[in-house]
Amino acid sequence: MITFKDVSFCYPSYGREPKKVLFDVSFSIPDGSFVGIAGNMGSGKTTLCKLMSGLLKPSSGQIERSKSVSFAMQFPESQLFESTVIKDVMFGPMNRGLSEKEARMISEECLVSMGLGKDFFDRNPLRLSGGEKRRVALAGILSMDADTIILDEPCAGLDPKWHDRLLEILHGLNEKGKTVIIVSHNIDDIARNCRTLLYLKDSKLADMGKAKDVICRHEELETSSMAFAKRLTDAGFKIDFKKAVTTEDLASLIADRQSSL
Ligand SMILES: Nc1ncnc2c1ncn2[C@@H]1O[C@H](COP(=O)(O)OP(=O)(O)OP(=O)(O)O)[C@@H](O)[C@H]1O
Ligand SMILES: [Mg+2]
Repeated sequence: MITFKDVSFCYPSYGREPKKVLFDVSFSIPDGSFVGIAGNMGSGKTTLCKLMSGLLKPSSGQIERSKSVSFAMQFPESQLFESTVIKDVMFGPMNRGLSEKEARMISEECLVSMGLGKDFFDRNPLRLSGGEKRRVALAGILSMDADTIILDEPCAGLDPKWHDRLLEILHGLNEKGKTVIIVSHNIDDIARNCRTLLYLKDSKLADMGKAKDVICRHEELETSSMAFAKRLTDAGFKIDFKKAVTTEDLASLIADRQSSL
């Protein structure tokens, strides 16, 4: 469980008026949730992740975490620092006290799950492609085996195959009981994958609830199916676009309409 109670946060401003980037945020995320965080650029999503993971301390209010948390930063590839891929991924498990043998075994498994086989283990992580670096960094996050995994825009920069594969991996972890929290600008991804959505607007938690319900309540959170349903309505094929959150929702609305004709 992660609980925020009236949490506010200001970045230090060194002489100028402190910049408050989160105001009075309160929520609870139960264990085993699959949560999305959405909001415009600069709305405070990354700051919220850093507070949830303990990288930042709140300026006021309380944060409680009952379990271990690992956090994949917005550009996780910038977290790579070891001389080889395998050493980089082993850093987390070694740090939590596993033997070298155990750490290696887990790290190899995580790398393979991210499509990086033996050939990659001894390569310098800095001499990989952008997508490969990102997958090494994500393998490093998975190897920590934390109870809660927070990922800040994890799919940005991945090709469609790895985009889908990563979400599949996250669902697998969630089915095993882990709490998964992802930040995304892609509302389609959130609608398809997250049960709960936290929506940040103007540095405040503007809404939180069942992902589809939150999406319906805010015009800015339109999915591509909702946009398409609007175009169909404009073209004379009337559909309640607010109910067309996912492609599946749209398909069943079209089927219902056809059968009622
Ligand atoms: N280290 C910092 N010092 C001062 N201000 C910061 C710092 N980091 C972020 N900010 C400011 O805090 C606000 C929230 O930033 P944050 O990175 O949390 O937004 P975000 O929602 O993650 O944006 P994006 O979608 O662009 O990643 C922004 O106005 C930003 O300029
Ligand atoms: Mg961010």
